Amino acid sequence: MIKPHGSKVLNALFVDDDQRRQILITEAQSLPALLINSAAAANMVMLGGGYFNPLMGFMGLGDALSVCRDLHTLDGIFWPVPIINMVSVKPSFSAGQRVALLDPNVAGNPVMGILNVAGIDLVTDDQLDEMTQAIFGTTDSQHPGVATFTAQGNVLISGDVEVLGLSYFQTEFVETFRTAVQIREEISSRGWQKIVAFQTRNPMHRAHEELCRMAMERLQADGVVVHMLLGKLKEGDIPASVRDDCIRTMVNHYFPTNSVMVSGYGFDMLYAGPREAMLHAIFRQNMGATHLIVGRDHAGVGSYYGAFEAQEVFDSLVPDNALEIQIFAADHTAYSKKLNQVVMMNEVTDHTSEDFVLVSGTKLRDMLAQGIAPPEEFSRPEVAKVLMNHYKIKDS
Ligand code: ADX
Repeated sequence: MIKPHGSKVLNALFVDDDQRRQILITEAQSLPALLINSAAAANMVMLGGGYFNPLMGFMGLGDALSVCRDLHTLDGIFWPVPIINMVSVKPSFSAGQRVALLDPNVAGNPVMGILNVAGIDLVTDDQLDEMTQAIFGTTDSQHPGVATFTAQGNVLISGDVEVLGLSYFQTEFVETFRTAVQIREEISSRGWQKIVAFQTRNPMHRAHEELCRMAMERLQADGVVVHMLLGKLKEGDIPASVRDDCIRTMVNHYFPTNSVMVSGYGFDMLYAGPREAMLHAIFRQNMGATHLIVGRDHAGVGSYYGAFEAQEVFDSLVPDNALEIQIFAADHTAYSKKLNQVVMMNEVTDHTSEDFVLVSGTKLRDMLAQGIAPPEEFSRPEVAKVLMNHYKIKDS
């Protein structure tokens, strides 16, 4: 199986041993406590599940800036986005102490893990701007990722972590949330060798479905892991439970049995386009995928990134041999009225723009919000039904 990123063996930071975990949970009750923000909590879940291998915890300011400037940690690990824990008030504890990290996303704020505090850094406004620009390619506060990132405060608390809980994902998405360790196990028990990962934050429409089919056929892959984001999204995006339902419905109707693994990961969407795509590649390698589909405007929002910028960075910014996973770069897919099927637009040179039905995710959400059923060229009827149910639209 493909090796994890940056190490020979996957090292998930969730404390798997029940007895040891109980001891640490008890210890945590007597430690200084820190209520972390949702982004840091999502980082904990990813570290816990092995997705952020080989990181051992939250980066300090030196590593965070190094990742932003050079796409590498100070130790030389290829990494595109700082994995940090920011708060707005300087804490009363100091470096060298052990601190209990509390989950902001679960009622009662249970302990998520223990942080061995390595450093407490104050981030200057200039440094925050520099990081924001590097990650998102903009400092525009209208960008949802920028708005979240810059609202976190400017005190960066770093150090190695022991993860004791994976937040609400395991209980809310019992069938879908999987750690990188679990996905590796499942891949291995299915005997898959060539595995395509599909990142998504949407219910899967026909364009998404066809991308998976094309990748699978062209790469002669053994299977596809549909890997949906289960964490927080911007307002207006479709809730994870509805997307999960849509995806399972589509897979059951339109893919051969056992060719697709439907799963999800607990991370909040960054909307960081190219930088997020590189992070996506790292954590799909960690879960055992050999290929990642990167299509049009991958992890994008609005018009902040070029349509294929998230593909281009794999040639321009990722050093040779930094990653083992390969990219399946896909052109814009759309429904062809001429051929009555979804096609890659650059492969049907005899088509004019009138021959395509193009519906963006944003346009679809607007339609649903206005009570309009998704067109059949865009959504499979079974999927449209799930969406219409959610938006309480009556079948006409
Ligand atoms: S994303 O934020 O998770 O990237 P989305 O769920 O819409 O958003 O996309 C999942 C994957 O499908 C991404 O790789 C994206 O580039 C690709 N994709 C979505 N729609 C299209 C399309 N019409 N043409 C080509 N690629 C697409």
